Amino acid sequence: MLFLAPILALMLVLGIESSCDETGLALYDSEHGLLAHAVHSQVDLHEAYGGVVPELASRDHIRRVVPLLRKALNEAATGLGEVDAIAYTAGPGLAGALLVGAGFAESLAMALAVPALPVHHLEGHLLSPLLSADPPRFPFVALLVSGGHTQLMRVTGVGQYELLGETLDDAAGEAFDKTAKLLGLGYPGGPQLAHLAEQGQPGRYTLPRPMLHSGDLSFSFSGLKTAVLTQVRNRTLDARDKADLCAEFQAAIIKVLATKSLAALKATGLRQLVVAGGVGANRALRATLDAGTQAAGARVFYPEMELCTDNGAMIAFAGAQRLLNAPVAKGSGRFDVRPRWPLGEV
Ligand code: KG4
Ligand code: ZN
Repeated sequence: MLFLAPILALMLVLGIESSCDETGLALYDSEHGLLAHAVHSQVDLHEAYGGVVPELASRDHIRRVVPLLRKALNEAATGLGEVDAIAYTAGPGLAGALLVGAGFAESLAMALAVPALPVHHLEGHLLSPLLSADPPRFPFVALLVSGGHTQLMRVTGVGQYELLGETLDDAAGEAFDKTAKLLGLGYPGGPQLAHLAEQGQPGRYTLPRPMLHSGDLSFSFSGLKTAVLTQVRNRTLDARDKADLCAEFQAAIIKVLATKSLAALKATGLRQLVVAGGVGANRALRATLDAGTQAAGARVFYPEMELCTDNGAMIAFAGAQRLLNAPVAKGSGRFDVRPRWPLGEV
């Protein structure tokens, strides 16, 4: 038998994120906003391996989830008895890592007799700018740029996401990470490559701007990584060479992302662009989009810097939005995760 919880106007939602290498727990209050969020990054754990080791990630989520929950409850000066619903990332992501968050969330929800809401990780990213002090309003165009996805979407409301274009191969974050790895920059590569790029000059090396003139809103970044490989093969790079190569690589990615984002605004006739996902933390990308949207008479919105990468706050918020719109089943102890889950299917 299915027990449906009523639609609550005032509620406290616990959000749990464990899809990859960050454990995030947060408490979102529909009236007072984000009360607390606690994140543990596994960067140190995976650094020695040059990438995320799924089994280690799952085990670490298990270790962190309860201490982070306590931390978030303390920060919000509240107790579990006050929680009205639990939202958790059910996909996409690493199956084992997702199962930790899902199992914890569903069993806690059953024990507290509150609804449990499976949330799409990208929906969390997509709605995260709505947590800022100056949020966008529906409808808007969203540029989702994370480690696994590069997509342009038309967002007309919660759960109403139309895919306008996406990458045909590597995601932008993946291209940053793979290129950083081949330049020997360590893990996580994206932020390190971006940091080095700020010290270099674009133009000394020449890299392509893939699909810039394709006439559609698709992307392709895997050739860019190969082009970098061609430049560095059989060559010893000094610090300046590396910085210049990073600067050119970053300029190439930004040029394509910005051009297609502006084209998406034009094609849809919308004037608000929302940027979400880890690559949205890139300062040069932000500067280019700020200038580009301003010149086009549009506006660009970002999540708070600390909410750009994976966190529980965006999951709690997305869960709360769902709960405000439709009744949700109470935790039954039965659940599934979806390591692959197109956003259009939410
Ligand atoms: O959204 P996110 O935290 O996790 C996923 O859902 O994938 O995004 C992580 C991605 C990684 O590929 C990382 O290298 C990239 O975001 N990233 C950056 C920057 N900060 C994080 N890429 C470029 N510049 C940055 N500053
Ligand atoms: Zn993410």
